[in-house]
Amino acid sequence: MSPSDPAQLHHTSIAVAGGGIIGMSVAWRLAQQGWPVTVFEKETLGGEASWAGAGMLAPGGEIEGPSELATLSLQSRRLYGAFVHEIEEASGCRIDYQECGGIDVAYSLDDLARLEDRAARQAEIGIPSKPLTAAEIRAFWPRIRSEGLAGGRFYPEDGIVNPRELVAGLRCACTRLGVRLMEHSAVTAGRIKSGAVEVETSSGSNTYRALVIAAGAWSGSIIVDGPSPLPASEPVKGHLIGYHQPEQTCSTIIRHGSVYLLQRANGLLIAGASVERVGFHREINPHIVSDLARSAGFVLPHLEETVPSEKWIGFRPASNALHIGSWHSTHLYLAYGHYRNGILLAPVTARNLADTINASLQTR
Ligand code: FAD
Ligand code: GLY
Repeated sequence: MSPSDPAQLHHTSIAVAGGGIIGMSVAWRLAQQGWPVTVFEKETLGGEASWAGAGMLAPGGEIEGPSELATLSLQSRRLYGAFVHEIEEASGCRIDYQECGGIDVAYSLDDLARLEDRAARQAEIGIPSKPLTAAEIRAFWPRIRSEGLAGGRFYPEDGIVNPRELVAGLRCACTRLGVRLMEHSAVTAGRIKSGAVEVETSSGSNTYRALVIAAGAWSGSIIVDGPSPLPASEPVKGHLIGYHQPEQTCSTIIRHGSVYLLQRANGLLIAGASVERVGFHREINPHIVSDLARSAGFVLPHLEETVPSEKWIGFRPASNALHIGSWHSTHLYLAYGHYRNGILLAPVTARNLADTINASLQTR
């Protein structure tokens, strides 16, 4: 068979199901290692959770104590600056990435005590933070509500990225490396063979050296005839709202309880987010939007009279665990279950999974 024979080509190449931030980051790293890669995306690339996500890179706000998630989150946070820079170089696209830090504010002594407890657990795993008095917050964050302020904590290593720009950069970087990007093409099934996987898609089937399942909240619905059914995945819906505001209105992440605020370089000040287990329902609920706007206006009183100009939803990909690796030592690989932190976890997921696949396929 000649190298240009399509059957031969597919047999040496790797298929990725899902073109969100996870699927495209893994595809890009595999292509850098010399693998021919095809990404199948059932709708449009980067159009789901990776479009909706706020873009916090914030172990300070998301990690409560030691766990595998904590370890990977911290590793990924350390990789982020170089990851963004590499994608910018490879794509020619500018990506809004800010090492801005994050602050948690408390309006009661009980809430402040809870922040300090959490900070003590976080310090043990390498998440630094420092206490802030109400007077310091008033001086450095003058827009934050000052009545009743008890104090807060500053997390210097939290940051933000614009995930829509990151995905656009990844798309371009993948294209330049020859990754085949197939939109409107869903993977429906994977049949595990000896040393390969037969991949069935909405546009036909082919045998690939390996299949990576990175289909976010939809991952568990891909049919696999392997050793056991895939771990289930579940959508956890989140509403976000946005206000166009002058630059530097919100120069760090601001958190109060379950609400967070951050501002992208394009001026969009985002407040989020709801956490809803309601299946794949895309409706925007006006009551949830009003609640979020009320919470945003509580923390930043100048927003109290402002109607958010943007509102949207997305589906966080939840599962029983974060799955990154081979499925029962076969050529089927999982990359899903990133839930609230898939933007943060993209660099470490891509690096670890591409290295695992590369090492395992080279030796078989
Ligand atoms: P997705 O981006 O959903 O991509 C999966 C892709 O697979 C989709 O494009 C889908 O169309 C495609 N697909 C589905 N089925 C198939 C199939 N059968 N065949 C082919 N393609 C298929 N994370 C952070 O780190 N920081 C945050 O601040 C943050 N905020 C968030 C706020 C909200 C409201 C939400 C909803 C999420 C937030 N997240 C955040 C989480 C983050 O967005 C996700 O964890 C991450 O985007 C998951 O990326 P993914 O590529 O796995 O999934
Ligand atoms: N990580 C923020 C969210 O999922 O809403």
